[in-house]
Amino acid sequence: MSITELARAGGARGLSSGDDLAVRADGLVKTFGDHRAVDGVDLAVRPGEIFGVLGPNGAGKTTTLRMLATLLRIDAGRAEIFGVDVAENPHVIRQLVGVTGQYASVDENLTARENLWLFGRLQGIASPRARRVAADLLERFGLEDAANKPISQFSGGMRRRLDLAASLITKPPLIFLDEPTTGLDPRTRGQMWDTTRDLVADGCTVLLTTQYLDEADQLADRIAVIDHGRKVAEGTPDELKTAVGNSTLQLLLADPAQVPAAAEIVRRAVGAEPVLSPERGRLNVALDQADLAADVLIALRNAGLSIASVSVAKPSLDEVFLALTGHGTGEDDETVTEENR
Ligand SMILES: Nc1ncnc2c1ncn2[C@@H]1O[C@H](COP(=O)(O)OP(=O)(O)O)[C@@H](O)[C@H]1O
Ligand SMILES: [Mg+2]
Repeated sequence: MSITELARAGGARGLSSGDDLAVRADGLVKTFGDHRAVDGVDLAVRPGEIFGVLGPNGAGKTTTLRMLATLLRIDAGRAEIFGVDVAENPHVIRQLVGVTGQYASVDENLTARENLWLFGRLQGIASPRARRVAADLLERFGLEDAANKPISQFSGGMRRRLDLAASLITKPPLIFLDEPTTGLDPRTRGQMWDTTRDLVADGCTVLLTTQYLDEADQLADRIAVIDHGRKVAEGTPDELKTAVGNSTLQLLLADPAQVPAAAEIVRRAVGAEPVLSPERGRLNVALDQADLAADVLIALRNAGLSIASVSVAKPSLDEVFLALTGHGTGEDDETVTEENR
């Protein structure tokens, strides 16, 4: 039975709620000890889209994916994949979802080709077909040259691609990518982005987690921002940006020592809190109306503060995150705290 037939059969047996979402999660909760790692998350992922779950380290992204993939028990709430209840039909769910990040368990001493073949065999695919599927995937992921090397010799980027290839052996209609580019160099990140877009062009739906704002912005049709196990915002990249302010005024002061004085003037002129950038002398502020920028510039000149450069742009997702949560994303937080001491 094909995966689509499986999902349809699930519907016919009364497993389906009848809507056509790829993922529906209502009030998902996971508790570790007395810590609510996932604290009531709702998700609705439409078929054929790339849905991004964006949040810093420890936000609960992986825990959410693991519950949806039946790898962790759902403590409260409920989830469906293509209308099939996750808790009630784990065996069906496992055929609907391809999960990356499991590849490490496969034999390091076998070659990439042997690993993919073995993975196919473990999924119940006949040997000749498993060999063909492995060859196709190696070609598609640009791993042909490395196909006959043991994976112990693979770089991080090659492992990531092989991992994704392994999760595609059964052609699942829904792929979970858990931080697919964390720790990769820019070129390999770009390749993973292209590969992800190819998957969707092929008809897959992708649920992706990331702590990179640019990645969510580049790849995702829609984004849920999560922080401390809770969804704090959801929308298209543009909607999230617009929610913060229609535009951002970006200032670079001639003298970085004048940033605090400038911040105070900006605060008074706009009535919003400016965001100090890590880059020395730079501050940004969200504007409801782009023409407020003129008021700021006049106020700065009247105060005798000189500006090296100025621009008005759409806000970045980084600013969105700060505005929504009151703190920046990821590991940078600690660094900032250290510096502030
Ligand atoms: N198996 C576990 N046992 C205890 N705590 C866990 C476990 N897995 C994750 N956590 C905790 O749950 C929170 C969310 O983790 P995780 O889902 O891995 O976040 P993310 O993937 O967004 O970085 C973190 O505080 C983490 O330490
Ligand atoms: Mg994680």
